[in-house]
Amino acid sequence: MIFEQIATGGCQSYLVGCTDSCAAVLIDPELSQLDRYLTLAARDGLRIHYLVDTHTHADHFTATRALAQRLNVPVVMHRASPAPFVDMHLSDGDMLAVGKLRLQALHTPGHTRDSMCLRVEDRIFTGDTLLIGATGRTDLPSGDPDALYDSLFGVLLKLDDALLVYPAHDYKGRNHSTIGEERASNPRLQKTVRADFVELLNNLNLSMPKHITEALRTNMSGGRTVAQMLADAAARVPFVSLAELKSRIEAGDPELVVVDVRERDAYEAGHVPGAQLLPRGQLELRVNQDLPDPTRRILTCCEFGRISTLAAATLRDMGFTRAAALDGGMQAWRDAGYPLKTGAAP
Ligand SMILES: [Fe+2]
Repeated sequence: MIFEQIATGGCQSYLVGCTDSCAAVLIDPELSQLDRYLTLAARDGLRIHYLVDTHTHADHFTATRALAQRLNVPVVMHRASPAPFVDMHLSDGDMLAVGKLRLQALHTPGHTRDSMCLRVEDRIFTGDTLLIGATGRTDLPSGDPDALYDSLFGVLLKLDDALLVYPAHDYKGRNHSTIGEERASNPRLQKTVRADFVELLNNLNLSMPKHITEALRTNMSGGRTVAQMLADAAARVPFVSLAELKSRIEAGDPELVVVDVRERDAYEAGHVPGAQLLPRGQLELRVNQDLPDPTRRILTCCEFGRISTLAAATLRDMGFTRAAALDGGMQAWRDAGYPLKTGAAP
């Protein structure tokens, strides 16, 4: 078995390959590490055949869908998963064949209804069902402490004590444990009476994960994240630096059209000299009237440099093939002490 554990923040992803065939499975990949997984697979000579999420994640953005499109391989989740982009749903006991490896799914609801663990050879990927010295929480959507009790005491703790435990999270830099070690020392597993365990889980008083709404929305529906939309736009738009813009304005570049895509009040409070106002919300509707020459060098700007990137990408889509975005926004422009004009557009 070829085995890579990829930790990012507290998240753990796993690339598991068959030594004989070079077939591999990627478990719980995270969107920001997409290039890293592909690079690791290439370095190890592996071809990824399946992309697995152990459950619907509420605390990070899954990369399974993006990778599935790129690699043309299926996304695999438990049957109870609501995500419409899942290509293969597993039931309890089903196995994935990855070359000579067999990964068996164990349905372990509790942290979420669609949680599953995957067992292969001497190890088990426990998702957020069983963590090192902890368990998944049960206060997020579809969580259920009673179901988690059954999954832990009725399923996982019945497995061999020597089985290696690889969880989907660890915040203390540990990379694995065993069923036996968890049985002996995991504080939550000392609550062997159901009512005590449920009471403990119901009173953890944890704070909500960052980005929970956006993570659930994108992981459950396949919608895109704001970061993805920005990254896609940034990948096909050239940028112009603040200093370059300042020198072009001073030189009176006749080609340049600076388009400020903020709202009118922000524009009137201070804009780049010569910039014209075209709020992002009106861009598509007013573009023909306000920007009649598609051959001009259009430079978009906004407050922080993000909406201007989306606007420049939109303009490129519409045929303004020289549209670029300011690298940075008006906040940085002001901080740099560069010239500002106030008042209404001419
Ligand atoms: Fe989770």
